[in-house]
Order: sequence, then structure tokens, then C-alpha cells
Amino acid sequence: MSGKNVAVVGATGAVGREMIRTLERRNFPLKEIRLFASGRSQGKYLKFQGEDVMVEELTENSFDKQGIDIALFSAGGDVSLKFSPIAAKAGTVVVDNSSAWRMDENVPLVVPEVNSEDVKKHKGIIANPNCSTIQMVVALKPLYDYSKIKKVIVSTYQSVSGAGQKGMDELLAQTKDILDKKEIQISKFQKQIAFNLIPQIDVFTDNRFTKEEMKMVYETIKIMHDKNIQVTATCVRVPVLRSHSESLYVETEKPIGREKAVELFSKFPNLMIMDDIANKVYPTPVEAEDKFETYVGRIRDDLFNPNALNFWVVADNLLKGAASNAVQIAELL
Ligand code: A2P
Repeated sequence: MSGKNVAVVGATGAVGREMIRTLERRNFPLKEIRLFASGRSQGKYLKFQGEDVMVEELTENSFDKQGIDIALFSAGGDVSLKFSPIAAKAGTVVVDNSSAWRMDENVPLVVPEVNSEDVKKHKGIIANPNCSTIQMVVALKPLYDYSKIKKVIVSTYQSVSGAGQKGMDELLAQTKDILDKKEIQISKFQKQIAFNLIPQIDVFTDNRFTKEEMKMVYETIKIMHDKNIQVTATCVRVPVLRSHSESLYVETEKPIGREKAVELFSKFPNLMIMDDIANKVYPTPVEAEDKFETYVGRIRDDLFNPNALNFWVVADNLLKGAASNAVQIAELL
């Protein structure tokens, strides 16, 4: 039988479940699927292609002599730091969704539409970029190929599923409690997220930007192989369940203009234009939900700078921002 033995690590989580569904939806050539999570989930069953597959506890022996070709990890940075090298040593190629390895110079950071060639440089671990970086570079790359990009000012509107299943549960519980006039519980986010928004994702760094914002800076440079791109990000958590949205101002070396930008976007793989303002056609988080593609709209020339464009980018953070980008990397392997 042809096909690969694939493991999903963090299979019970918000992204892990989407990894399983994405392998199904994209008909990934599989021989066997193995599902791993913490000891808490040991013995639970998850469906794959209509069959029940048992979740196993991840241990140091999960990979040795198991013949697992590819492991898709989405179980957080600490699990990845510990278990990715163990898996790689056992001959498994790890595609890791956490931030643990992204800036390691021996680990390629890959968005298949942008830098698929980098996959070849792997030494056992490949990193999946941050969700907000992925959808941004998918939109930047077609412009960059026409004219180098000098500066990007981005504001994000990130859904609660970026904080995992517990993030979604917290938004729903707070919404219900507020409607029921009960006291809300805050645990996953810094402040109330229902009927609110929070201009802080991850912790603050010494320069007063957050870690999430700095990920967008460093990861864009690494993926685009251009250390001169200046990214200024403000990352905001919004009370949306799924899909991240981004408002971008992009300054290029050569002027591009809206018409050419539309042409460049339209030729780029997995990037869909939704930009017919007369008919209220522009992407929203709900419209991008459950889709593998990245959506761009509100494309307009800057009012003051002929070398700048403004636009709006939306993608499902659990799919293109995580699971489907990881499965696309596995497909390249
Ligand atoms: P579990 O469900 O057993 O806790 P999310 O990002 O949605 O919170 O999901 C995190 C995923 O990472 C879950 O599948 C979770 O499994 C898994 N996980 C957390 N800690 C560990 C661990 N120590 N070993 C393996 N998997 C883990």
C-alpha cells in the first residue's frame, strides 16, 4: 500500500482536530494515522474517514521504531521543544505549529505558496508560521514579486480560536453569562472578550510591542528572505470565533496601483479576491470560515503615497493559519 504514516500530536485540540479533517478533505495519501495528546485524552476516540481512531498518550517512545513518516504537531511550544527532537531522531519529519522552532536557523519556516523551496532544507523539523503571518505573506508575495516591499503597517483582528479550544469556550461562556446577567469568568484572556476587544496578544516585550506583533516582524523577514522589509504590527483579539482579519498599508519600491494589484492577486494560488464594494463584496471572518484559501478585499490606492496600497485580508486561522498550511507542507514532503 502506498502512502505515508502520519501522526497528529495535539489531536484533541482546536488545530489538531482541523489537521485530522484537513488530511481527510485533501485526500492526503495516508497508510495509517496515529493520534496523540496528553494522558488526559488517552483512550478517547476521534473519527477519521468514518472510523474511530484511538487517541494515545504522547510519550518518549511514541516515535521510536513506529515507522511514523510525518508528525503534525500542535500541542504547544513546550511539548514541541521536548518531543520534536525525539521524533526527528527516530526518522519522523515534524511539521510544528508552535512558535518553538520558528526562528531556529536550522528549521525552515514555510508557507507553500511563498517559499516552498525551503522545505528541502529541513533537518527533521519544519515550522509552520504564526497564523497572522501566514495570511499576510500570502497577500504580500504577489506584490513583492512585482516590486520589492519596503514597509508594511498591519493591524490584526484575531479570533479567539487562535487561543485554542479554551479561547472559543471562554467567548461563548462570557457571552451567555452577560446575556443571562451573570458574573463572567476570565481565565484565557487578559480581560473580558465578549462584547469587547483586547489590544494584547501574547506577552509584552521590552520594546512595548507584544510577542505576537514581533513574530509578524521576524517571521515575515525569514519567509520572504528579505531583512529590509519593515513590518509594524498591532495585534488585537476580537470577539470572533474563527478567522483572522488584517488591515494592511503596504509601501513598495515601484508604484503598483490598484488595477495591477488586482491582476497580481488574481494570478496567485489560493488567494481569492472579494472586492466589489457596490455589491458589498469584501471578505469577513464568517465568510472565510472552513475555507483553505486566503481572501483579499477593499483594495485601494493610498491617498497620499503613489507607492502604497491599502487592503483587507481574511483567512481561517485554524486552517490556512495552522492546519491546512501544515498539511500543505506535508504534501510537499
Ligand atoms: P489534551 O486534550 O489531552 O489536553 P488547544 O490548543 O486547543 O488547547 O489544544 C492543545 C492540544 O495539545 C490538545 O490536543 C492537548 O491534549 C495537547 N497537549 C497538551 N499538553 C500535552 C502534552 N503534555 N502531551 C501531549 N499533548 C498535549
